Amino acid sequence: MKVLVTGSSGLIGSEAAEHFDRQGHEVVGVDNNMRRVFFGPAGDTLWNLERLKNNCKRFTHAAIDIRDRVAIEELFNTQRFDLIVHCAAQPSHDKARDIPLLDFEVNALGTVNVLEATRQHCREAVFVFLSTNKVYGDAPNEIPMKELETRYDYAQAEDYDGVDETCRIDRTLHSLFGASKAAADLVAQEYGRYFNMNVGVFRGGCLTGPSHSAVELHGFLSYLVKITLTGGRYTVYGYKGKQVRDNIHSYDVVRAIEEFAANPRPGEVYNLGGGRANSISMLEAIARIEQLTGRKLDWHYVEEARKGDHICYISNLGKFQSHYPNWKITHGLDAILEQMVAAQRAQHLHSAAK
Ligand SMILES: NC(=O)c1ccc[n+]([C@@H]2O[C@H](COP(=O)([O-])OP(=O)(O)OC[C@H]3O[C@@H](n4cnc5c(N)ncnc54)[C@H](O)[C@@H]3O)[C@@H](O)[C@H]2O)c1
Repeated sequence: MKVLVTGSSGLIGSEAAEHFDRQGHEVVGVDNNMRRVFFGPAGDTLWNLERLKNNCKRFTHAAIDIRDRVAIEELFNTQRFDLIVHCAAQPSHDKARDIPLLDFEVNALGTVNVLEATRQHCREAVFVFLSTNKVYGDAPNEIPMKELETRYDYAQAEDYDGVDETCRIDRTLHSLFGASKAAADLVAQEYGRYFNMNVGVFRGGCLTGPSHSAVELHGFLSYLVKITLTGGRYTVYGYKGKQVRDNIHSYDVVRAIEEFAANPRPGEVYNLGGGRANSISMLEAIARIEQLTGRKLDWHYVEEARKGDHICYISNLGKFQSHYPNWKITHGLDAILEQMVAAQRAQHLHSAAK
C-alpha cells in the first residue's frame, strides 16, 4: 500500500508512519511542524521527524500545510494513495480560544481539503479521520456521577462502560476546538455516507505515548511525567483533581486504524480511548507518577475548572470491538506510564549530554 499520514511528526501520525513502514508499506508523511507555532519551542516536532527518518525504510516527508489546497492537490496529483490517516490538527481544547480562525482553518478546512483531494484522486482509498471526544462537548457531564475518594465515577450501572457514540454532539459547550473538530467530523461522515467513500471517524479519548512533544495545553500524561522529572509547577484545574480520563497508547490507536483499513465501513463513527481499565483521575495520575519516578511533583490547585472540561470521561469501546473483534487494548496504564518515564529520562539525558 501507499499510505499518506498527515501530522506525521505528531504523536499518532508518527506511530502510524512507523507502523505502516514496518509492515512494508510506502509511507508519505505530511507535517509542517505547526505544533511549534501553536505551543512554542516545547511543541517542536522536528526531533520526531528525525527519528522517523532514521528508523523507517521507505518513509518520505513533505512539509506541506494542509490548509494549502494547491499543495495538497499537487501531492495527490503525483501520488496515488491507498490509505490516508489524517492526524494533522490544532489539538488543544484550551489553545483554540486564542486562535479561533487558525484553529478552524486547520481542523475544519484542512480536513475538507484532504477529503476532497481523496475524492478527486483516489476515492477507493480508506480515509481515517482522528476526531475527538470533545465533539460531545460537555454533554457527558450530564451523566449522573458519584464522588469517590480520589475520583468521580458514573453513579448508574448502565453507564459503567462509559460514553458511547449515541451521545449527542449539539446543544452542548464544546470549546472552539470541539466545534472545529465537530465540523470536520460531520464532513468526514458525509464523505462516507453521501459519497459512499471508505471513511472512518475515530473519536479519541486521551491518546498518549512516548512520542508526544508534550506541552501544558496538550498531552496531559506525558506533560505530567515530563514536569515531574524535570521540575516546574503543575496546575490542576477544578473538580478537586478528581476528573477522570481514559488513556490509550498510540500503538493501540494505530492498530484500530489498521483493522478499519482492512475492512472499512463507510461513514462509521467509533469512540476510541483506553476504556475503564485505562482510566485515571488527576489525583491518581500524580500519585502514580510520583511513585514511578521517586520524585515529588510541585502542583497547586485552582478552583475554576477548564471551560467545557469533562468530569469523568470513559470511552465505551463496545461498538469498535463488536465490529473489529481482533482488536484489543495491548498497553495497560502502568505499561504506558513506565514507557513514558523511560522515554522522558532518555530525552533528558540526551539533551543534558548535548
Ligand atoms: N492526543 C490526544 O489526546 C488526542 C485526543 C483526541 C483526539 N486527538 C486527535 O488526534 C489527532 C492527532 O493528535 P496528536 O496527539 O498526534 O497531535 P500532535 O499535535 O502530536 O500531532 C499533530 C501534528 O500535526 C501537525 N500539523 C498541525 N497543523 C498542521 C498543518 N496545518 N499542516 C500540516 N501539519 C500540521 C503538527 O505539527 C503535529 O506534528 C488530532 O486530530 C487530534 O485532534 C488527539
